[in-house]
Amino acid sequence: MSKNLHFVAVSGSLRKDSFNSAILRTALELLPENTTMEIASWNELPFYNGDFDLPISTFRPESVEKFRGRLKKADAIVIASPEYNYSIPGGLKNALDWASRGEDSPLLRKPVALMGASPGMWGSIRMQFAFHALFQAFDMKVVHKPEIMIAQVANKFDESGKFIDQVAIGLIKKKLQALKDLTLSLLVSH
Ligand SMILES: Cc1cc2nc3c(=O)[nH]c(=O)nc-3n(C[C@H](O)[C@H](O)[C@H](O)COP(=O)(O)O)c2cc1C
Repeated sequence: MSKNLHFVAVSGSLRKDSFNSAILRTALELLPENTTMEIASWNELPFYNGDFDLPISTFRPESVEKFRGRLKKADAIVIASPEYNYSIPGGLKNALDWASRGEDSPLLRKPVALMGASPGMWGSIRMQFAFHALFQAFDMKVVHKPEIMIAQVANKFDESGKFIDQVAIGLIKKKLQALKDLTLSLLVSH
């Protein structure tokens, strides 16, 4: 029997009706066996300020510790984000900056799977490209394939709000399985 894994997912959007958050909620139903996932929000985080981070300050803001604590529990991270102005949404970048600091960073060397959706034609591709630099900085273990860029996402929900793009659903399922496989293989090699 394989080890149980826990994923922590982060959406790049705070919008109540966010397509990307809805896709993460769909992903909760597409998890591989013996895997759980929770969605961690960053809506309460302040702007990054080194004066309130270690080692200058002796403690970090409570909301930051809470967010880092939730990521810490993750065997692997899942991110679904829109593209803002051809790049990573500022709020998400800010949250990841808070999580990135220190040797105890909950991102450091962790497996990660990225996906994104946009109402336009490009399906978040430029945001995903921008993420390569962050993944490199955090030395994260990226599941590159399958790539999931969901274009024209507004047409891909039914009237009840259910995500109905079967191709994307299949890809998400495969990517979550690939994330699980990578995570388990890294556990074995340690
Ligand atoms: C500040 C801002 C910049 C945006 N820039 C882009 C962009 O570069 N490319 C794109 O495809 N969509 C862009 N959009 C549109 C978003 O993809 C769209 O609002 C999307 O629905 C946001 O994701 P969400 O539904 O998960 O909140 C932008 C939206 C905002 C608010």
